[in-house]
Amino acid sequence: MTTAFSSIWIVGASTGIGRATALAFARAGVTVFATARGADKLEALAADAPAGRVVVVPCDCSDRAAMLETYRRITGQMGGPPGAALFAAATWAPEDGGQARVDVVGPVFDVNVHGCLNMLEELWPAMLAAGRGRVAIISSVAGFRGLPRALAYGASKAALTHIAEALKFDGDRAGVAVQVIHPGFVKTPLTDKNDFDMPFLMTAEAAADRIVAGMATSAFEITFPRRFTFMLKLARILPYRLYFPFIRRITGM
Ligand SMILES: NC(=O)c1ccc[n+]([C@@H]2O[C@H](COP(=O)([O-])OP(=O)(O)OC[C@H]3O[C@@H](n4cnc5c(N)ncnc54)[C@H](OP(=O)(O)O)[C@@H]3O)[C@@H](O)[C@H]2O)c1
Repeated sequence: MTTAFSSIWIVGASTGIGRATALAFARAGVTVFATARGADKLEALAADAPAGRVVVVPCDCSDRAAMLETYRRITGQMGGPPGAALFAAATWAPEDGGQARVDVVGPVFDVNVHGCLNMLEELWPAMLAAGRGRVAIISSVAGFRGLPRALAYGASKAALTHIAEALKFDGDRAGVAVQVIHPGFVKTPLTDKNDFDMPFLMTAEAAADRIVAGMATSAFEITFPRRFTFMLKLARILPYRLYFPFIRRITGM
């Protein structure tokens, strides 16, 4: 596999899709700066990767000052911004319908949305100034439209898709690639919390393969598995009078 860059900062690299993608990039010869809160899990990732390919830079992405410090550690080591960045961190907890509260939604946004903005704070202007680089943001099909029991998570993912779309305009002018990733269901610690059947469930390794391949292209969107995400894309364009009954029917809610 050839990649368009030789270094990448992955935020959310300790488990699931982020870890599998970090490993795939490291095995392809890319230097991976791996961030998450779990330093022990990041060390285990580094031990599984080819020697020296994974640099462990633990950080809580919701902590703005700590993320800036982490970014500066990376640029200090690299002598400039990494060639690419992937935002793969997220928090999700089963929602019961009582989620329309700042104290419930706020912590989800702190990680899923503000974490991404913290990653971009100095990285994005540095890439624009350099006129090169690549930013990929993992959103979700759960952000396409409102879904039952997904108020906080879904709204955070809608925000991420919106952020990626908005960034693309500036990125295109400067020569910086922006990509949004819309996965369907992938077996990870995040989805292990789900209490319902997940159609077309993929492994994290298969998802990582799609992401690594997608990040070598100029496509804005990386989405998988296509059979499932295509169905949700159709639901995205349904008028409300058809959308709500359709979702009620497939979710039983
Ligand atoms: N699995 C799916 O079916 C699916 C579907 C659509 C979209 N996605 C998206 O794919 C991405 C990866 O999810 P996943 O399924 O692989 O979940 P996961 O295994 O739970 O991974 C989440 C990652 O985020 C990190 N993280 C969480 N809070 C953090 C914080 N405050 N600071 C830094 N890192 C933090 C976790 O590490 P620590 O706990 O060590 O900090 C972990 O590395 C997420 O954006 C998720 O929304 C997943």
